[in-house]
Amino acid sequence: MPTLHGPFTQLLPLSHLPLREALTDDQLTVIPDAGILTENGEVVSIGSFEELYKSSHNGNTTINEVEGSSVALPGFIDCHTHLCFGGSRAQDYAARNAGKTYQQIGAAGGGIKDTMRKTRAATCLQLRQGLTARLDRHLRNGVTTVEVKSGYGLSIDQELRLLRAIKTAGDAHAADVVPTCLAAHIIPPEAKDERDWLQTILEGIVPVIQSDWLTYRFDIFVEEGTFTPVNSRPFLEELKSHGFDLTVHGDQFTTGGSQLAIDVCARSVDHLEASGPAESTALGKSNTVAVALPGASLGLGCAFTPARRLLDADACLAIASDWNPGSAPMGDLLTQAAVLGTFEKLTTAEVLAGLTSRAAAALDLTDRGRLATGQKADFICFSTEDYREILYHQGQLKPKGVWKDGLRIT
Ligand code: NIG
Ligand code: FE
Repeated sequence: MPTLHGPFTQLLPLSHLPLREALTDDQLTVIPDAGILTENGEVVSIGSFEELYKSSHNGNTTINEVEGSSVALPGFIDCHTHLCFGGSRAQDYAARNAGKTYQQIGAAGGGIKDTMRKTRAATCLQLRQGLTARLDRHLRNGVTTVEVKSGYGLSIDQELRLLRAIKTAGDAHAADVVPTCLAAHIIPPEAKDERDWLQTILEGIVPVIQSDWLTYRFDIFVEEGTFTPVNSRPFLEELKSHGFDLTVHGDQFTTGGSQLAIDVCARSVDHLEASGPAESTALGKSNTVAVALPGASLGLGCAFTPARRLLDADACLAIASDWNPGSAPMGDLLTQAAVLGTFEKLTTAEVLAGLTSRAAAALDLTDRGRLATGQKADFICFSTEDYREILYHQGQLKPKGVWKDGLRIT
């Protein structure tokens, strides 16, 4: 049964924005007094509410009325999170603010290893409940598709347990969850060395992922002290030969990861806080999506990803939360994107594209991130008359309505 949603004071379909390069706000299409007609979870058409109402008012269209002023746009897509974990790292946060670095804490056995211990000790139910609570919060805040990485299990069985918890929680949740295997997050204490662990992943984890359809994506943390480009390359090439999509944590503290990601045709490279002009230029010439993670900059007190320079170099720039217990505990994607926009001088169009169509590209999803015929009916609306108010309030204006697959959730 078709449903007409609206009227919305303004509708930003974000459907004609190019997938890469800088954008001006003139490129935004703003439809006044708009409606969205949906059926079977998809958008049938968008346009003037009045006209859609007239042409569809034949008795079998349900009207889902939206009261008061509202600005509608596609649901946000968070293309990089680590939402499946146990425990807290409040002690790391305090220690960093008292002068220790992220790397010092990690080298002393804290950091990711601390979350690994807490995650291994958590029951499957606790992991699912924690993940579900975070997905609930994200969905209320307008995030309708969420990538979730493993990476705190760090043994064959524990990584598979996390991927199963992500799949189970995702299948039961209204938000769409895209799982990613990040077994190559750090070298686990039980592994002999870097190459030994990467080989264990290929031999012990990959076959089960394939037989049980646990994910189509792999990630690796390429950084000094974790996985070097020289050892990561054959690992990524082998995964590619099995047909997996690749993404890389790269250029967070030192460079090397972004070039490797480009070389292996990774779908995205995420972080890039340490990237220089040469890395930005190379990304701008590649098909690898550059993902800014302002939540990690805010959590660590580090520089932001050079988003302006990447866009000016013609890159495809997505913005994600990196929500995790260590470097990015905040988890508020809209706040982080708005703040990144302020510091990096991004247009409204660039920020909104980074949260929607360009984030979809980072996950290789072509059915969302835009509101157009045939796209998923995932959309959100804010209680305002002017779309510019959304970023202006720097995350304090929350969505008043969230629709997933055409159904109103909040
Ligand atoms: O993206 N840098 C590596 N991984 C995560 C942090 C994980 C953690 O500190 O628990 C990140 O920042
Ligand atoms: Fe991350």
